[in-house]
Amino acid sequence: MASLFVFFHLLLLLSKTPVLSSSPTFVSQPSVLKPGSSLSVENKDDFLISPNGLFTAGFYAVGENAYCFSVWFTKPLRDKSHTIVWMANRDVPVNGKRSKLSLLKTGNLVLRDASQPLPIWTTNIINSKEPAQLIMNNTGNLYLQNQDNQTIWQSFGSPTDTLLTLQNLTKDTPLVSSRSLTNYSSGVYRLYFDSDNVIRLAYNTPTVAGTYWPDPMLTAWASGRSTWVSRRIANMDLFGRFVSSDSLFFNTSDAENQFVIRRLTVDVDGNFRAYSLDETRGIWKVTWQAISDACKVHGICGDNSTCSVVPGSGRKCSCIPNHTMINQTDWSLGCKPKFNTTLCGNNEDTFLRFPHFDFYGYDAAYVANATLDECKKVCLGICHCKGFYLKYQPGGFYSCYAKFRLLNGYKNSNGSMYLKVPKSFLLSPTSKDFVYGDSLNCSKKLPTVPIERAYEKNPKNESLKSLMIFTYVFGALETICIIYFLYKTRGPSTARKGYLQAATGFQRFSYAELKRATNNFSKEIGRGGGGIVYKGEFSDNRVAAVKLLKEYSNKEGEAELLAEISTLGRLNHMNLIDIWGYCAERKHKLLVYEYLENGSLAQNLHSSKLDWGKRFNIALGTAKGLAYLHEECLEWVLHCDVKPHNILLDSDFNPKVADFGLSKLLKRDGSRNSEFTRARGTRGYMAPEWLFVNHPITSKVDVYSYGVVMLEMITGRSPAGDQNAESKGRLDSWVKEKMMEAGGTNEWIKEVVDVTVDGNYDTSKMDILIKVALLCSQEDKDARPTMRQVMDMLLQVEEDSDNYENCI
Ligand SMILES: *[C@@H]1O[C@H](CO)[C@@H](O)[C@H](O)[C@H]1NC(C)=O
Ligand SMILES: *[C@@H]1O[C@H](CO)[C@@H](O)[C@H](O)[C@H]1NC(C)=O
Ligand SMILES: *[C@@H]1O[C@H](CO)[C@@H](O)[C@H](O)[C@H]1NC(C)=O
Ligand SMILES: *[C@@H]1O[C@H](CO)[C@@H](O)[C@H](O)[C@H]1NC(C)=O
Ligand SMILES: *[C@@H]1O[C@H](CO)[C@@H](O)[C@H](O)[C@H]1NC(C)=O
Ligand SMILES: *[C@@H]1O[C@H](CO)[C@@H](O)[C@H](O)[C@H]1NC(C)=O
Ligand SMILES: *[C@@H]1O[C@H](CO)[C@@H](O)[C@H](O)[C@H]1NC(C)=O
Ligand SMILES: *[C@@H]1O[C@H](CO)[C@@H](O)[C@H](O)[C@H]1NC(C)=O
Ligand SMILES: *[C@@H]1O[C@H](CO)[C@@H](O)[C@H](O)[C@H]1NC(C)=O
Ligand SMILES: *[C@@H]1O[C@H](CO)[C@@H](O)[C@H](O)[C@H]1NC(C)=O
Ligand SMILES: *[C@@H]1O[C@H](CO)[C@@H](O)[C@H](O)[C@H]1NC(C)=O
Ligand SMILES: *[C@@H]1O[C@H](CO)[C@@H](O)[C@H](O)[C@H]1NC(C)=O
Repeated sequence: MASLFVFFHLLLLLSKTPVLSSSPTFVSQPSVLKPGSSLSVENKDDFLISPNGLFTAGFYAVGENAYCFSVWFTKPLRDKSHTIVWMANRDVPVNGKRSKLSLLKTGNLVLRDASQPLPIWTTNIINSKEPAQLIMNNTGNLYLQNQDNQTIWQSFGSPTDTLLTLQNLTKDTPLVSSRSLTNYSSGVYRLYFDSDNVIRLAYNTPTVAGTYWPDPMLTAWASGRSTWVSRRIANMDLFGRFVSSDSLFFNTSDAENQFVIRRLTVDVDGNFRAYSLDETRGIWKVTWQAISDACKVHGICGDNSTCSVVPGSGRKCSCIPNHTMINQTDWSLGCKPKFNTTLCGNNEDTFLRFPHFDFYGYDAAYVANATLDECKKVCLGICHCKGFYLKYQPGGFYSCYAKFRLLNGYKNSNGSMYLKVPKSFLLSPTSKDFVYGDSLNCSKKLPTVPIERAYEKNPKNESLKSLMIFTYVFGALETICIIYFLYKTRGPSTARKGYLQAATGFQRFSYAELKRATNNFSKEIGRGGGGIVYKGEFSDNRVAAVKLLKEYSNKEGEAELLAEISTLGRLNHMNLIDIWGYCAERKHKLLVYEYLENGSLAQNLHSSKLDWGKRFNIALGTAKGLAYLHEECLEWVLHCDVKPHNILLDSDFNPKVADFGLSKLLKRDGSRNSEFTRARGTRGYMAPEWLFVNHPITSKVDVYSYGVVMLEMITGRSPAGDQNAESKGRLDSWVKEKMMEAGGTNEWIKEVVDVTVDGNYDTSKMDILIKVALLCSQEDKDARPTMRQVMDMLLQVEEDSDNYENCI
């Protein structure tokens, strides 16, 4: 089954190539995840897509290296954004590396982050012990179905901020808004069934909480809601008709049209809206909203601030005068006074008028009929009174509302707010009316904060680390002593060498030593990458490959050489060749590597020792080595010269990639000289983008070369060797041609594989390998997979064939 999955990947990737897009056998991404399989955050093609193509489930990037497992509308909007409808782990994003959503054989769905010992999220199905499959349904519901076709879990049962058509809102499943347009974690607004069975909107910040819809001034009955119901359920049907058990009914403005895609969302501004997708324009249209006056949504503008409606962009928060924002990025925290006099029980305090504003709620006292002076007295008599609202009543008199908290400020033409301030504060008599304080645009996008998700260190490593630190410190002290000693005895130049060696951990060889070991550079075993490689044997019987850096000589000193090869010292992978040390004496610059008995892949391409099993292993090992170079290291290292000569084989024919990192070393050359030297690598294996000056060089150049090497290894044909002009460098076109000619059968495989190679091969495995190679060697660099994807595809095939063997 998993091989089918890989196959879908391949098809999807292949579909991007112009040659194959006309293929009639196009199959879309799967919509079902089988028990025992998983979706990986690193594989950018690990998605489930509903059969109608409308919804996609997969890892969604919510920040730098931060991902949430989500369901979204597959088709992006006009502004290229995706509309998320559900998230599994909105508050705890996972790492962009090694995180996985696995469907266990027990029917549980588990989201793991490699750095955390416990799952980040799980469906927690305790009583099920039988396998289930995860299905991305056409309705946007992601659900688990057991073998009896029962739904044992569904994303519809744990909504985030969105309710889709036919999805039920129940008493246990409130909708919670996102924090901001860019931050999907749980925000402060909630749509829920209250204990009196009424659907309400409420906000809940660390400092304040309250409901704001339906209008809290009115009873549920006055708002047209019913509390006498036994069920709490609400949903919208295909026709855009919303029905709730508390008698809240509404029709969207485009109701009756059942072919419209709709959603209901508690937005980041606290409003609850119905949207319909305008597919031709790529936008969502609002077809209904709970609150028409944006400032009736409480909580957005915090203490001591006011809200005003701004046509076009929603609303704006402003601090009341002589107050300043507490946190420049968050209006809900409100504003604090710029003065620091306490205002309690001081009859000297005075009031400043803030016309046409009211602050909703938090009344400390109410006087139905009061003059301005009477109301001032009321407020002065209450220690924590912050001011009062004086409202003109239709009967021709004023009502006084003394406030102990200035929250939910909004424009109200029927009265004025009077703020209590220290007497010393009163400026010139003319400035008795306040003007607006600091203001900030509420709808401005907040800066996103990168999420730090460091890998957890296990205690063993910790102790090892402290031991290493000790060693380093001790070593550094020792080095200082040695430097001092050398400085005293032999002068500065030797001291510097000793220091450099200690800093990189490479062994430093003398030129004389290497000359002796290589028998005066007599046994050449390879050439390329800026130098000639010789076989050497040291007095302790260690055999090494010694590379004489030709292009590098005469140029830089030892420190520069070391600085550049220090990257290589940090690379450690079973499919990368090991560097032992270096030599830098005057113009002689050499690198010492481990020696591999079986030479390079180039030497073995036509060897009878390389059967198909070994060749497949070489393909996988090389992919692993390159994937490691590209992704896992601290710095990106592009190989830039992947070819059979640089893939070395150990005694068991395991591949080790050689000659990497030298591109970095030689970079200086390329940029100094003309554009001709920009192109590196070897003809036939070089990606097309090398030839174009303004094309960026990315890791995809190595992917291309890898693809060509694989095609060469499979077909036995050299990509550059043929003198025949039209076949030059287009090995992939030849293979694709054969593939097309076969018209859907597997016959082409027989035609393209190298008949001189002994042994049998597994046709399905070969099929995948060739397809992977073709994917890699595409002209369009963006269509090529990454090295890690290649590795995963090949690993998958490997696993499948292993499983298959285990079964028989
Ligand atoms: C899946 O979608 C179909 C409509 O395509 C719907 O009838 C069915 O109820 C859905 N199943 C679940 C579990 O949501
Ligand atoms: C489950 O549904 C499939 C397809 O609808 C059907 O073939 C199968 O018999 C059903 N299995 C059970 C146990 O109901
Ligand atoms: C929604 O609730 C109704 C009534 O309880 C039920 O029939 C329906 O299956 C539910 N829909 C989903 C998707 O769970
Ligand atoms: C919604 O439309 C239906 C007809 O399709 C109508 O019966 C119903 O009264 C409408 N509801 C509201 C709240 O307008
Ligand atoms: C109070 O606000 C007014 C108007 O913004 C300003 O002129 C005055 O300087 C402020 N006073 C203090 C003490 O900040
Ligand atoms: C404002 O809040 C953000 C996030 O809550 C925090 O990172 C930042 O330090 C705060 N700024 C100030 C000035 O307190
Ligand atoms: C709001 O302002 C008052 C004084 O006007 C002050 O006492 C109170 O602490 C402020 N609120 C906040 C959250 O700073
Ligand atoms: C507030 O108090 C600090 C010291 O407590 C003082 O330096 C500052 O001037 C005061 N600010 C005002 C506006 O009175
Ligand atoms: C308000 O109070 C004034 C004087 O205290 C009184 O004359 C007036 O009738 C009162 N108005 C109402 C509506 O109670
Ligand atoms: C002002 O008062 C009138 C009459 O009581 C009322 O209809 C109107 O809604 C009030 N305006 C505001 C903004 O509260
Ligand atoms: C608020 O910001 C948005 C987006 O940054 C902008 O489109 C809008 O014009 C701004 N509104 C005001 C009143 O500054
Ligand atoms: C989202 O908001 C939460 C809560 O304020 C915060 O902890 C988190 O770091 C934010 N995430 C991003 C990506 O800004």
